[in-house]
Amino acid sequence: MKTPTLIQMKKDPILLDPTQLENRILARRYAKHHGPYALTDGWEKDLDKIFPGCINLPYEQSEEVYGSLTPFDKEILHRICTWLEPKIIVEFGTYLGHSTKLLAESSPPETQVITVDLPEGYNLEKLPCSTDIPFAEVAQDKCGIAYQNSLAKDKIIQVRMDATTPEFERHLEEILNGEEIDLALVDAAHDYETTKYIFELAHRYTREGGVIFSDDYNKLVTHQGVTLHFLEKAIKEGYCFYFFSFRNEPEKTRSILFLNVPGAIKGKQEKEAA
Ligand SMILES: C[S@@+](CC[C@H](N)C(=O)[O-])C[C@H]1O[C@@H](n2cnc3c(N)ncnc32)[C@H](O)[C@@H]1O
Repeated sequence: MKTPTLIQMKKDPILLDPTQLENRILARRYAKHHGPYALTDGWEKDLDKIFPGCINLPYEQSEEVYGSLTPFDKEILHRICTWLEPKIIVEFGTYLGHSTKLLAESSPPETQVITVDLPEGYNLEKLPCSTDIPFAEVAQDKCGIAYQNSLAKDKIIQVRMDATTPEFERHLEEILNGEEIDLALVDAAHDYETTKYIFELAHRYTREGGVIFSDDYNKLVTHQGVTLHFLEKAIKEGYCFYFFSFRNEPEKTRSILFLNVPGAIKGKQEKEAA
């Protein structure tokens, strides 16, 4: 008798209508609103509606590392990654490799984590946004050191290239070899053009049902370009984004989520059908 082959089903997150948010006051105000939509009071239940069961997954809080995702954002990324069981993860902006390590350790053993950062010897003055220079400087010779002792390090493919170049896109295509991205982390340079370029690049290669997790939304002291990009995508192009927002702890989180599921870009389906 032929042994039945096991087909691994991919899990897709559920698009949450902003009028269904746990914060009922906000939900009502979001009835005719472009977003990005804030997950605030009751965010645990909201996140659990998007990724059912993710809030009960075990997690140990990590330490704050300057230049890396905040401990809260690491927790959210861990929950999403563990829930999604991604096969292909692409991270834009390795830095020391703390988020790379988390992605490798929160995903199944066969997962590939492709992480890109600028090449050694890159002329940092060419970076469009000076706020990125201190981190890019450190990453020059310390890129990825945080995952070197991880048992999951063999899952990681480190690429040292400028992610905004056609050469990188060609290289990414070669590595993907026809497969699509299940989970992307966008956290490289933080000016408007680079954020837009990398988000759109990630989106082109992300499977339907995949997730794009970006950092540094709503951080107006230094990262206006990131915020402008997501606002523009939401208001002008109808993209549905969720971000976390805590009135009394504004520094707790910067992450913003895009679910690449049907209906996540308002008007797109109607246009395609017309
Ligand atoms: C904020 S750090 C990333 C932090 C990391 N994701 C974490 O949470 O630990 C941003 C990184 O993006 C890199 N970067 C900036 N511009 C880039 C580009 N065009 N291509 C690839 N990497 C870039 C910088 O060198 C820097 O190491």
